[in-house]
Amino acid sequence: MKILRFPDPRLRIKAKDLKFVDSETKIILEKMKELMYAEDGIGLAATQVGIPLKIFVFDLSEEKNDPKVAINPKIIQFSREKIIFNEGCLSIPNLRIPVERAKKISVEWFDENGNRFVQQLEDLSAVLFQHEIDHLLGKLIIDKLPTEERREIIKNLLSGKLPEKLSTSGIPPTYTIAVKPKEKKKSNSDSSVT
Ligand code: NI
Repeated sequence: MKILRFPDPRLRIKAKDLKFVDSETKIILEKMKELMYAEDGIGLAATQVGIPLKIFVFDLSEEKNDPKVAINPKIIQFSREKIIFNEGCLSIPNLRIPVERAKKISVEWFDENGNRFVQQLEDLSAVLFQHEIDHLLGKLIIDKLPTEERREIIKNLLSGKLPEKLSTSGIPPTYTIAVKPKEKKKSNSDSSVT
């Protein structure tokens, strides 16, 4: 199992609902968790490893020792209030993009044991869920950029101008673009890679 990198067309496939969790699914989930930790991510969607099913793994714990699984996640409600967060993506190494998303969401998902969760998430957890659910819809953070910036970034990505290896956590990103949000809104200086 390996993480697909932009511009792999499989990153654009819309994932389908997972009908049931069998032993094969459990192996996939274990491998996804391992990969997420190995790459210093806090989330990884099945689409990113070429499996078009609505699954992602994540870990929002401080110690990075509490892996969780979200199956068939669905956002029920988005807050009007927005948050801008510097997001990274394991499928687009070394790039951080300020993305505006709902600050709070209500979301439903299942874990690998069939337990159903309905929770209101806020800030980083809300951003993470929106980022991963975007992956399951075939969407990437670069899609959020204004046309001109997006063209420029894609040109650079395709010509290999961005460094290949993802920097380890704690080290500032080697490539950040500055996009001015249309209005001044609450910005979070933290960043995450999912
Ligand atoms: Ni991502």
